[in-house]
Amino acid sequence: MNPPKGSKGGGKAGIGERFQQDTKYKPDNMEGHTLDWSKQPEPFKNYEAPLATIPLPEPDLTGVPNLWQLLYSRRSRREYETGQPLPPEKLSTLLWATQGVTARYGEVLFRTAPSAGGLYPVETYLFVRAVEGIEPGIYHFRPHTFDLEFLKKGDLARDVAEAALGQTIVMAAQVTFIWTAVIERSRWKYRQRAYRYIYLDAGHIGQNLYLAAGALGLGVCAIGAFFDDKANSIIGLDGLEETVIYMAAVGWPQG
Ligand SMILES: Cc1cc2nc3c(=O)[nH]c(=O)nc-3n(C[C@H](O)[C@H](O)[C@H](O)COP(=O)(O)O)c2cc1C
Repeated sequence: MNPPKGSKGGGKAGIGERFQQDTKYKPDNMEGHTLDWSKQPEPFKNYEAPLATIPLPEPDLTGVPNLWQLLYSRRSRREYETGQPLPPEKLSTLLWATQGVTARYGEVLFRTAPSAGGLYPVETYLFVRAVEGIEPGIYHFRPHTFDLEFLKKGDLARDVAEAALGQTIVMAAQVTFIWTAVIERSRWKYRQRAYRYIYLDAGHIGQNLYLAAGALGLGVCAIGAFFDDKANSIIGLDGLEETVIYMAAVGWPQG
């Protein structure tokens, strides 16, 4: 096989090139896969014994932001005012904007961000550093009950920053979103092509966060650079069946 264009060295294709080639849909490889509905994974995650379950206030959807202006002014912001905590309504609004449930068709709960096949493989965790009335620590967001499961107590800013390749933005951010993927939710249907869709799903969620944060006067910086194992260990994940795929720092922007 000729090396795919863009592969370095002109010799053996790297894992990225092989992944792209091997997960192609082609007219002659589309048959022979039937879905085993009895094996469809649960679409939602619930922790058995969280430290606490924190109800979230109603998201505040009363403002009238101008979408064109938000798109125009959207920028990654890396410097935040550290003094003022985030009101919980703003956190609720961001969670709703990224993964809020907006419709139900049968068993499927549709959300603010699209998802390949309506399978919603992405889970949302938070590192809360400074949100009014919410203790610092790691939380898991449940879209179906619109609440937070408290998983780990403490100011883990340094750990999360270390996981993010030492990027100190998370030390000033009021909250850091940590998105994971439960791979089987998508792999069950799309097999190895699932990995393409999982990352596409995450991109939609990330942009929703940027735009919603802009509407609330908050700044965001996406974080794709992190030590995977360290990020997974902060949340307590194996990194195989569920793994961190993306993060974003959110705070009051400076200037
Ligand atoms: C997938 C992805 C990963 C990113 N990872 C990081 C990161 O780890 N650290 C960082 O400072 N910025 C990160 N960014 C932000 C980009 O640097 C930024 O979007 C780009 O420079 C364009 O600037 P703008 O967002 O202000 O338009 C990331 C953005 C994306 C979309």
